[in-house]
Formats: sequence, C-alpha cells, structure tokens
Amino acid sequence: MSRLAPRPAAAPLTPDLAAFASEVRNGLTHAPQKELPSKYLYDDIGSALFEAITVLPEYGLTRSEDRLLTRYAAEIVEALPAGVTVAELGSGSGRKTRRILEALCRKRPTSYCPIEISRTALQVCRRELADIERIAIVGYERDYLAGLAEVSRQRAAGEQLCVLFLGSTIGNFTRLAATRFLREIRSMLEPGDTLLLGTDLIKPVETLLAAYDDAIGVTAAFNLNLLARINRELDGDFDLTAFEHVARFNRDARSVEMHLRAKTRVEARVGAANLTVALEAGETIWTESSHKYHADEIPAIAADAGFVCAHQWVEKEWGFAESLLVSA
Ligand code: TRP
Repeated sequence: MSRLAPRPAAAPLTPDLAAFASEVRNGLTHAPQKELPSKYLYDDIGSALFEAITVLPEYGLTRSEDRLLTRYAAEIVEALPAGVTVAELGSGSGRKTRRILEALCRKRPTSYCPIEISRTALQVCRRELADIERIAIVGYERDYLAGLAEVSRQRAAGEQLCVLFLGSTIGNFTRLAATRFLREIRSMLEPGDTLLLGTDLIKPVETLLAAYDDAIGVTAAFNLNLLARINRELDGDFDLTAFEHVARFNRDARSVEMHLRAKTRVEARVGAANLTVALEAGETIWTESSHKYHADEIPAIAADAGFVCAHQWVEKEWGFAESLLVSA
C-alpha cells in the first residue's frame, strides 16, 4: 500500500465498544495514576481465568465461602422470612448459590433471579442450577442496580426479596463507594427485605499477596488479558511482554491493589480510542482493588446504609464472613 493511500474507514463502533473505548481513554489519560475499569476484566477469556483463580491453592476465598455456605445453608435459610424471592447480584457460575437455593426449595417452591452483565455466565448459571427441584429461574442480563430495580418492580404485593451479594465483590468498591452502593440497594427494598453479604476478612499480608499473585501466573494472565482485550476489541497494539502483574497491599485502604507495571518505557496506540499512550519504566496501570474487612466493622456499615445486621457467620480457617442484613 502506498504511503498516501487512505486508511480504510474504520467501521462505526457499537455502543458497547464506544463506551469501552471512552473509558479506556479516560483511564489511560488519568494523572498521576493511570487506571482501567475492572469490569472489563470479565470477557469470556477473563471469566474463564477467574473460574481458574477460584480453584488455585493460594486463593482460599472461594473454598472458604463454599465451606461456610455448605455448613450454614440451613441456618441461613431459617433466618430468612418465609417465601422469599432470591435476587443475586453477579451470579457467576451459580455454584456458590446452590446450597442456599437447595435449602430454600426444600421448604417451598422458590423464584431465583440471577442478575449478570455476562450472557455467558447467565447461561452457565441457568444450566448449573436447573436441576434443583421446585426452582423457577428468571435471569436478568443487566448491571446490578438496574437488574435489582426491575426485579423489585415486578414483585407481587407482599412478596419479600432476599438479595445475595456473595464472593466478596463488595470488596472491589472503595469503603465509601461500598456504603453508597448498599444505600442504593436499600432504596430498592422494602422494610423486612434482606441482603446476604459476603466479605473477605483481613488476614496476614503474605497470605493476601499470594492470593492475588499466584505461583503459576493465572492471576497475572487474568490481569494482562485486559490489555489483550484492548488489543483485540479496540485495535490496540500493547506489547504484553513489556508488562508484569503486581499485587500490593495498601495499608491505609486495607486493600490489595492489582496493577500492570511497564518493565521498560512503553508506547501503545489504541486505534478505536484515538489514543497514543506512553508509560515510563516502572509506571503502573491500576486495574482493581480488593478491600478486606473485620467482621465487626460490618454492623456499623450496614447501619449507615439503612440495614440492621441480624446475623453473621464466620469461616475462621481462611477468614470469610457472610452477614445477613435486614432492611430497616
Ligand atoms: N472479587 C475478586 C476478589 O477481589 C476478584 C479478583 C480475584 C481479582 N483475583 C483478582 C481481580 C485479580 C483482579 C485481579 O477477590
């Protein structure tokens, strides 16, 4: 092609890709800390890698919550009002929810509304849970709050909701944003509705860092996939070999931060975002934080958001808590 030949006109971006491009542009021009929104970690490849993370020896979180839900499902269900409809924020594969749904459906037919932005995850979850007797599954392919608003709007008079927010996803919000998010959930609930909230607990820093930087590099691949996804979907040319995954503990925020660090000076072009970005050697892109809690912080946070913390179940081997919040 001659140097003067016009570039082929780029196809117009779909609304989703245009939003992705604009968030990438904002994040990578953010000073002093470049950042990328963590929700873009979870495309089909990222979601598959995250499933692999949950079975890594270093990542005790998922197994801990599984033990907790297996051990206490009957007790948790006893603590819920009779006949609730279950709405889950971010169902993932649905595996962790099975115990609770089985215990509920044993008592009476129960409706389960998984809310997920990933269509693939919704399909997997429907397939995984369809064999539970007396369950009615209605999936919502929406973000959490929009999906919950819809579930809440469609409920019959007197029908009570139990919202599940498991797996410590709340930890991916800053503390301030977590309280705001719980308040938004509360605003869609009626008094007596419940929220079962999973939180990963504070533990020794070495344990935490290993959980987010495993020996065989699955978490590194999960993080790097974000740049690979930008290359695939937004016409990017990031040199993945120039970046490394870093996990750090932030003592002030009590969070594990995940970054992608440039090993040398790197320049990259993201065509669909009309952006050229340069990183100095050692400079990082912050991709995610995972905040850790003390179990006894939860009642005050709940109260701040209009809930009463009625029960708490703690798994001590790893350190994970499930808290039952009742909307006041
Ligand atoms: N919600 C999970 C957590 O905070 C997400 C997660 C696990 C994650 N490992 C990660 C996010 C690595 C980014 C990078 O534990």
